[in-house]
Amino acid sequence: MNSTDFEARLSTLQARCNRALAMALGEPGSEFNSTAAPLLKRLFQAGDYALNTPGKRIRPALVYAAAAAVDAQAIHHPALDGAACAVEMVHAYSLTHDDLPSMDDDDLRRGRPTLHKAFDEATAILAGDALQARAFELLANLGKLDAARCSRLVAILAAASGPRGMVGGQAIDIDATDQTIGMESLQAMHALKTGALIRASVAMGATVAGADERELSQLDLYAHNIGLAFQIRDDVLNATGDTDDLGKRAGSDAAHNKSTYVSLLGVAGARAKSAELLAESMAALSGFPGQTGLLLGLARYIVDRTK
Ligand code: IPE
Ligand code: IPE
Ligand code: MG
Ligand code: MG
Repeated sequence: MNSTDFEARLSTLQARCNRALAMALGEPGSEFNSTAAPLLKRLFQAGDYALNTPGKRIRPALVYAAAAAVDAQAIHHPALDGAACAVEMVHAYSLTHDDLPSMDDDDLRRGRPTLHKAFDEATAILAGDALQARAFELLANLGKLDAARCSRLVAILAAASGPRGMVGGQAIDIDATDQTIGMESLQAMHALKTGALIRASVAMGATVAGADERELSQLDLYAHNIGLAFQIRDDVLNATGDTDDLGKRAGSDAAHNKSTYVSLLGVAGARAKSAELLAESMAALSGFPGQTGLLLGLARYIVDRTK
């Protein structure tokens, strides 16, 4: 697949996910009385603010692309939309909480004021909580998927979101602020903080498509490598990018004294490392029965992206 074809396929998948996301939160419901209704409406508006914004939708795209690698026809499976929404909702919640004053204290996300700036801190905490709970509600009620696979998806996303996944990585990240940590600790932190949801996205798509153990393990190797490459690119962009292009504050890692791939390896060293990871991720995809073009394209996109 050449880069023009890939860009067209990616925007089709982003649009497919955006349509599903627009309905994912639902409405407050008419049963609430006149005192509660405006408060709940505000909570739903805050959730919508976090979710229905111009994110890149990399994790949903990985859900669809992993299914296609296992079985080209599986990309049309309707359960993929619920899985894609669920992982993006957990991601949106993680960003909302990550930006809070008690964490990274950021004021700009996806080119707009962060949720606690646009609303208030309590609403940002509650909207994040609501997105997470709703993500699992969606997954547990996926139509058109057998109960065994449905519960497997819930287990994958729960493990990747929790203390052995994203939340654990965030705890290490906060603790490591203002300290220099070594490469091994940095990689371990990123594998949890960012890598876990990326691996979960791939595993969820592959599970819907009925992947066998060997396929799941090869895809997990692909996902592990692009997860680290994704974070390296994030660190390089934070050090070298522009706030307007990124839609979030450039230079914030250095300002907050965070250990990053750039602070440990320099920009050139970080780029060399991500090229190695890209090659390893691509090698993991050889011999798949479905179409791997989207996963290959996403790996390149993750390494080369400009925002
Ligand atoms: C940014 O993730 C935060 C990290 C996990 C490093 P993305 O770069 O995927 O952010 P959006 O979803 O496109 O805003
Ligand atoms: C965000 O990581 C990761 C999660 C929310 C899990 P960062 O704090 O490094 O990313 P940005 O720069 O805020 O997007
Ligand atoms: Mg952070
Ligand atoms: Mg942050």
